[in-house]
Amino acid sequence: MAEQTKSQGICWQSNDGGLTGTYCAMEEAKVSVLDAGFYQGINLYDYATMWKGWIRKLDAHVNRFYKNMHACRMDPEISKEKFTEQVLETVRRSGLKDAGIYFVVTWGLSSTSYVKRGEKLGGPDHKVGLQVWVRPYRWVFPQECTEEGIKVIIPSIRSYPNQCLNPRLKNFDRLHFFLAQLEAVNAGADGFICLTIDGHLSEGFNTNVWLIKQGKLFTPSENTLAGITSDCIYDLAREMNIEATATFLTAWDLYTADEAFFCTSAGGITPIVGVDSRAIGDGKPGPMTKRLIDTYWKMHVNPKYAVQVY
Ligand SMILES: Cc1ncc(COP(=O)(O)O)c(C=O)c1O
Repeated sequence: MAEQTKSQGICWQSNDGGLTGTYCAMEEAKVSVLDAGFYQGINLYDYATMWKGWIRKLDAHVNRFYKNMHACRMDPEISKEKFTEQVLETVRRSGLKDAGIYFVVTWGLSSTSYVKRGEKLGGPDHKVGLQVWVRPYRWVFPQECTEEGIKVIIPSIRSYPNQCLNPRLKNFDRLHFFLAQLEAVNAGADGFICLTIDGHLSEGFNTNVWLIKQGKLFTPSENTLAGITSDCIYDLAREMNIEATATFLTAWDLYTADEAFFCTSAGGITPIVGVDSRAIGDGKPGPMTKRLIDTYWKMHVNPKYAVQVY
């Protein structure tokens, strides 16, 4: 049991917006079925990573989380600074050096529909549920895919239009991605890239997408999460003197790209070597993607971009 506890990581959870909280083993962490974060999907999360004891761009993750909570009126009671300290303390207690760090907010037990005039939504005593999970590092695609590359499809399922749910709001509703992944697996592929309603490339399951054409980097400008790993790609591009642009891209751009890759906190950069039974480039991870992968992992332990916990 003790070993299992260690391998699953630990959780700090608070039912009063972060004013007070308790620690438990990850597999013992609980959210009530009466929490609207569960039964109405009113939740947000963020996912930072620690590699060899260093956390990459922690402030950027905390800022994104706090901005999203503000946008959804799910403000916690705890300040950004105190929350950051809480994250670091939970990480220290986990003892893990390669870890995924989730920040989770749920609406909590208060009503989401009844609002008495003059009272705040949820009533005067309403406080959100807040959690920090520290779990062993997770790879969205098996680790060997970083070297071998993956094949993807463009599925029939489209990503949410911004007008319905802005993908910048990072939340746990992944059913559309899961259905797209079923299509991918049925087609013998490893993953997918969803199109927007207008037919532009958006993103994959937990991952942003980049294309390389004639030595330049391109990523979709709309209908995507503002990924922190994509931020890192811009940093790397600046350091390596490569032009990087966010723009509208179509399936044609993907089919004819010289190289393509996914990027996410959970596994870094993964080359995409095929799409819809077409090879991308020569069907192998390309030279610029390989250079980016090398530099990316160095960045993870560089004080300019990461903070060392132990
Ligand atoms: C839908 C989606 N797009 C992109 C990403 C990549 O974001 P980041 O680089 O911040 O991990 C994620 C991460 O989980 C995601 O869920």
